[in-house]
Amino acid sequence: MRVAVGSDHAGFDLKEVLKSELAAWGHDVADHGTLEPGVAVDYPDFGEAVGRAVAGGLAELGVCVCGTGNGIAMAANKVPGVRAAVVHDVTTATLARRHNHANVVCVGARTTGTTVVVDALAAFLGAPEEHGRHDVRIAKLAGLDRELVPTPAEGTP
Ligand code: RB5
Repeated sequence: MRVAVGSDHAGFDLKEVLKSELAAWGHDVADHGTLEPGVAVDYPDFGEAVGRAVAGGLAELGVCVCGTGNGIAMAANKVPGVRAAVVHDVTTATLARRHNHANVVCVGARTTGTTVVVDALAAFLGAPEEHGRHDVRIAKLAGLDRELVPTPAEGTP
């Protein structure tokens, strides 16, 4: 699987660990930054970059890390087509895939231990997307993307 990864400074070290794990599991990893450990940066820039990579088809999955996972998830979710989920453990990761068809997984380097995150990511990758009743809800999320993005006419003064 092609996986886009990104983090801010708070998530840098965990991003590096996850890159190694993903590569060891046979995935093709693209790092969208930050590439400068110890330099404070803004998480929206990296959530956007990962979100655009996934929504644009460059990657099938995104993995984002910041201090809590929250800020970078908020940024990724602004990109239409992205379904970013903050996960804290195997259960939240598994359900994010099974029920929410998450295509970006976000974790907190300051909130969740490295081993727990690695286990959660492995569980996410191994979980199947469930369909049936969930498909209606995924379609509604896609509908929100279309409905809430201004049309060119609306954006023109
Ligand atoms: C950076 O200090 C921190 O605010 C950020 O990594 C993240 O936790 C925001 O959601």
